[in-house]
Amino acid sequence: MLDNSRDLFPIFSAGAGKNLAYLDNAASTQKPTVVLEQMDKFYRTSYANVHRGLYKLAENATTEYEAAREIVRKFINAKKDSEIIFTRNTNASLNLVAQSYCQQLAPGDEILLTEMEHHANLVPWQQMAQRYKLKVRYLPITTEGRLDEKKYDDYFNSRTRVVSLTAMSNVLGTVPVLEPLIARAKAARSRVIIDAAQAVAHFPVDVQKLGIDALAFSGHKIFGPTGIGVLYGQEEFLNAIPPFEYGSNMIDQVTYEAATWSPLPTKFEAGTPPIAEVIGLGAALEFIKRLGWPVICQHEADLTAYGLSVLLKVKSLKIIGPHTPENRGPIFAFTVDGVHPHDLASVLDSVEVAVRSGHHCALPLHSKFGLTASTRASFTIYNTKQEIDRLVEGIKQTQKLFS
Ligand SMILES: Cc1ncc(COP(=O)(O)O)c(C=O)c1O
Repeated sequence: MLDNSRDLFPIFSAGAGKNLAYLDNAASTQKPTVVLEQMDKFYRTSYANVHRGLYKLAENATTEYEAAREIVRKFINAKKDSEIIFTRNTNASLNLVAQSYCQQLAPGDEILLTEMEHHANLVPWQQMAQRYKLKVRYLPITTEGRLDEKKYDDYFNSRTRVVSLTAMSNVLGTVPVLEPLIARAKAARSRVIIDAAQAVAHFPVDVQKLGIDALAFSGHKIFGPTGIGVLYGQEEFLNAIPPFEYGSNMIDQVTYEAATWSPLPTKFEAGTPPIAEVIGLGAALEFIKRLGWPVICQHEADLTAYGLSVLLKVKSLKIIGPHTPENRGPIFAFTVDGVHPHDLASVLDSVEVAVRSGHHCALPLHSKFGLTASTRASFTIYNTKQEIDRLVEGIKQTQKLFS
């Protein structure tokens, strides 16, 4: 059913993208016409700053902007619109949580992450740990690249104040089973934060069902524009932590000596927000809704199973991450003996297959596997099995070139 979805993305009908197998979706996805048109229309017909003007144009812009917040709320099933904070991206959302929350911790308190975290969910915590004398622990992964949940009790203890976990690894493709870990952390009154930068583009995420304190994702990885991210925060949690950025919009009262803060969500939205980007994100989430999760999930499950079956057959190619399709998505990082990932990516580019090479912002994870870099092919709704075949063909050509 998604076979024609490529037609919904203008880049694939224009020059540069016409014959391109775009397999770098974990880095950023392409944009469908509906998102581009909605943003264009907003700038052409409805643009004004939000939450300020009393004239019609500004009121309409505010209505459109707040309607997008409601779309985001529904998309992740948050309880209230005020629990949706607009940020710049996942990095910004996680920095907000780490920097605001860690101020309230005491020396010796602990933060539990996993070994498969993206730098965005690692460096902010690590830096706050250094600033406030906290300890960061990393829940290990197995050699197959799945969370080693059996070790949880060795890493979670009475000083663990926050558990921050990815809902889908951007390298391994692993989708950890979060529910039991969340339940145990919440039972011990620890805060739970989820990095959903990859997850939200691949399967439905329900923040109320998960019962978490906060969740972060970016618009650009889910068919929306760059410059817009989301922080979901459960109301009690967001009210309990201090603002992250200070200045205009986020205040209630200001004197020369002191200030008080706006209620949620504006307490965390200082300054003029990325208005058109918020509206573009709303259009992207509506686009996903129209396609429907069952269709998307089935398409991606097919790509995952097919990708694994053909890549595992390529001689001297090693997939870093689970070799079986359960609890894993269509992200494949791999190495090929005798070929540097950058060389592989360059040769693939010459046959119009776009992949990523490098550490994919997960250096500690690569070190764990004894690597400095890998090649990554990541798939989404507009990709096809034929494109996986082109990837494999390109890898074989490269192997011949370097043999
Ligand atoms: C799992 C994960 N977390 C966080 C990020 C950071 O996203 P952004 O660069 O949009 O802040 C990424 C981006 O690759 C990611 O894959």
